[in-house]
Amino acid sequence: MHVVIINGSPRVQKYSNTEKIIASFAKGLSEKGVTFETYAVSDRSSWESIRKAYMENEEILIALPLYVECIPGLLLEFLETLPQKDEHTRLSFLLQSGFSEGCQLRCGEGFLKELPGYLGVRYGGCLVKGDNFGIRFLDQEKQERITKPYQAMGELFARGDGFFGEEAKKFTGPEYFSLPMRLLLQFLFKTLSRKLFQKVAASWGCTVPLAEKIWETD
Ligand SMILES: Cc1cc2nc3c(=O)[nH]c(=O)nc-3n(C[C@H](O)[C@H](O)[C@H](O)COP(=O)(O)O)c2cc1C
Repeated sequence: MHVVIINGSPRVQKYSNTEKIIASFAKGLSEKGVTFETYAVSDRSSWESIRKAYMENEEILIALPLYVECIPGLLLEFLETLPQKDEHTRLSFLLQSGFSEGCQLRCGEGFLKELPGYLGVRYGGCLVKGDNFGIRFLDQEKQERITKPYQAMGELFARGDGFFGEEAKKFTGPEYFSLPMRLLLQFLFKTLSRKLFQKVAASWGCTVPLAEKIWETD
């Protein structure tokens, strides 16, 4: 099997969480003797090569982040440029997001389920997983640790059955958090997380509190 992997994030590859996830997933493919080539829609100058790879190959995987409950606009723009193909081609998806509960990725998944039909190709399933906000803020060792589970999903995909099995379903984790967990998270967001966000913003050169209302003038 040879897989064309397309990173659907608008973020440049260097800062893209999806890119790190793809690296781990691809390791799993390699472990099982599957070859791959990777592309990123964030680099508009490569769109022609991505289209060519899409047309010349039959196993396509689009890995993408959830942006505002659905798929990033830039990816949508790219998809609109794809010509029709036939059912020899299989299109699968790896959908990842910031927030953790599976339920909030289902709208995006629903859209992706319909998409192959519009392009005339076969649907290979959608791997769904959240809790990935932090990847790009970590050092390389921690990034590799947090994205490691995707390697097993690469190995699973190499079996050739797409993402329809129980293992892929389980990978999502909890669909909804329990009430105690939700209350705990609410507390953390109001306390520790605020401090953490402020620290990150300061490291990026922000000199005012994050709650500053810069649009309010006297
Ligand atoms: C504009 C924007 C919108 C986002 N919308 C959501 C969202 O609706 N739900 C969610 O869980 N995460 C959301 N996220 C978080 C991303 O899905 C998450 O950080 C992802 O890992 C980013 O991958 P990337 O760095 O490859 O773009 C959003 C991020 C951005 C920048």
